[in-house]
Amino acid sequence: MKDKALTPKFPVMLHGGDYNPEQWLRYPDILDKDIELMREAHINVVSLGIFSWADLEPEKDVFTFEWLDRVINKLWDNGIHTVLATPSGARPQWLAQEYPEVLRVAEDGRRNLFGHRHNHCYTSPAYRERIRIIDTKLAERYASHPAVILWHISNEFGGECHCDLCQNAFRHWLKQKYGTLDELNHAWWSHFWSHTYTEWNQIHSPSSIGETSIHGLALDWKRFVTEQTRDFMQWEIDCVKAVNPEIPVTANFMEVFNYGLNYYELCKPLDVISWDAYPDWHVTWGNDRVGMIASLSHDMMRTLKHRSFLLMENTPSTTNWRGVSKLKKPGMHLLSAVNAIAHGSDSTMYFQIRQSRGSTEKFHSAVISHTGTGNTRTFREVTKVGELLEALTAEVYGTNAPAEVALIFDPETKWALDQCNGPRNSGLDYFGALFSCYHYFWMRGITVNIADPHEDLSRYKLVIAPMLYLFRDGFQDRVRKFVRNGGTFVSTVFSGIADSTDLVMLGEATEEKLSDVMGYWIEETDALHDGETNSMSAGRYQLTELCEILHPTTCEVLETYDQDYYAGYPVVTCNRYEKGQAYHIAATVPEAYLDELFEELAGELNLTSALPENVVIPHGCSVTWREAENREKLVFIQNFSDEERTLSLLPDYRVLAVSEGAQMESSSITVGAFGYAIIRVK
Ligand code: GLA
Ligand code: ZN
Repeated sequence: MKDKALTPKFPVMLHGGDYNPEQWLRYPDILDKDIELMREAHINVVSLGIFSWADLEPEKDVFTFEWLDRVINKLWDNGIHTVLATPSGARPQWLAQEYPEVLRVAEDGRRNLFGHRHNHCYTSPAYRERIRIIDTKLAERYASHPAVILWHISNEFGGECHCDLCQNAFRHWLKQKYGTLDELNHAWWSHFWSHTYTEWNQIHSPSSIGETSIHGLALDWKRFVTEQTRDFMQWEIDCVKAVNPEIPVTANFMEVFNYGLNYYELCKPLDVISWDAYPDWHVTWGNDRVGMIASLSHDMMRTLKHRSFLLMENTPSTTNWRGVSKLKKPGMHLLSAVNAIAHGSDSTMYFQIRQSRGSTEKFHSAVISHTGTGNTRTFREVTKVGELLEALTAEVYGTNAPAEVALIFDPETKWALDQCNGPRNSGLDYFGALFSCYHYFWMRGITVNIADPHEDLSRYKLVIAPMLYLFRDGFQDRVRKFVRNGGTFVSTVFSGIADSTDLVMLGEATEEKLSDVMGYWIEETDALHDGETNSMSAGRYQLTELCEILHPTTCEVLETYDQDYYAGYPVVTCNRYEKGQAYHIAATVPEAYLDELFEELAGELNLTSALPENVVIPHGCSVTWREAENREKLVFIQNFSDEERTLSLLPDYRVLAVSEGAQMESSSITVGAFGYAIIRVK
């Protein structure tokens, strides 16, 4: 089934990326040359104006849009559409000079000098006013231009400001939330060490030279930062929509694990989800792992609106900001594009079209390198991606990827774990816990939504909550209802410890702790040193990091500890609760165990997968699917290994696209290193 187009004015798979012609205004021939190369590379869209403020408003209230008119029109004459950015990601010098309040203040109270980007105060009325003026002018001039299909609001929102304006806004937000200081002092447990607040203006954001011991404060501050960022973004959206509400808006997000912001909240005002993916391909520890992490991020972006999304940026070959920035090896660029599409992307877009000549990004790769020609390996691979996207539009564009499994990812749990001063301050691997639960489904082609604790669980058969330390905002009720109605729930060690403000839940077996659904209560939790292990299944599986010592009430015990004074106590439990069941894994178990458990559950729950069970997915490969008409499947076979791989026993299939050199037999496909095959099956 196809969803409504992300960009209704131009409903096709998008191929293009950030184009920064303002850097090249002294090189008059370059625009024509670039357009010629863009056409050659099958580029159908560019993102303009992201960092153009100083060239659009060189002095306060002096506007110079003529160069942008020329660029948009010339591109349009050549069939290339525009994603138009608001320029708030980087401000001109004059603006900071005239309104120093726009410069961000660090947590230690120091105000920035002018420099860098993405570092303005989200609260500053002066910044908002200057943004209102330029955004409105841009919208008035371009929002009805036939080429403009989407607003790109600012760039990669992030960071926080601790200035007085922000402190006051924070106090105001807290007053709305708690009403009285008494409530706040309880929620934050601030009688501890006599940190009790007696006036609202005593409240200050967390700081390395101030308060870090109040965990509720730290959590609420981060929530406020997300809220203030959302409020600023909404301000910009209102400016452009006031002129023409028809053009959808997006904001380019960063990877999931850039967890300063809660994207589940921030995404609410957006029409279209888009993000910038920079997987660290060709690390020494294996591309399949890198591919899996990228896939999980794509799945999260798809989950935010339960539909396809845009890959707004990826690099044509190398970045320049890593310790070691490697080129993509032949084939990897195409595979990486296919991986994004496989998980729900309707585009492949780049940072950037033409490589900068100077400043900090001059060595970041681009579609058009410093050579200025199409005669590069990168350009040829980009062109192949363009051809592939054209070939996929008819069948893939706008299709969905229905999920029966949800993996609960809570950015706020990550915030809380990072500061919890708990059993293992040398590392509680929250992301590791997510990855190891994701692995089986990723490999096997069972779609997983990466959902936050507010998700409506009724659409799923299986819900997995790895290390969900915070049970907040009624999550317990959603789980109880889900299991009561027949769902299968799995939690893993160190879940359900604290509430929304990081107050530990009291009592032995309580409903707040979900004990009725889970069927046990936890007495204490042991921590293991790095390298130290316990085990279960007579030594078959090594246990690491954390070991909970729990007492069954109604649950069945499936596995027990082999060693230490808690040998014989449960590690894996399952409790029948009304029509459903709830598993718990009380220690950090190896991925191999989770693979086995989830394989068993996939069979028992009859989970839909990309390919039938008898098709063995070879090591280093993953399969994924999107749903075509007639409930047929568009199956994406991805080989992240650097060797040839064969999938046999494939059902009847029709090929949509394959990597170079792939061999197709009636019931098998062989693809080379970093190869792929996109097929359609019944
Ligand atoms: C981010 C930014 C781009 C550029 C790239 C470089 O994604 O949005 O402007 O700096 O990184 O990788
Ligand atoms: Zn501020």
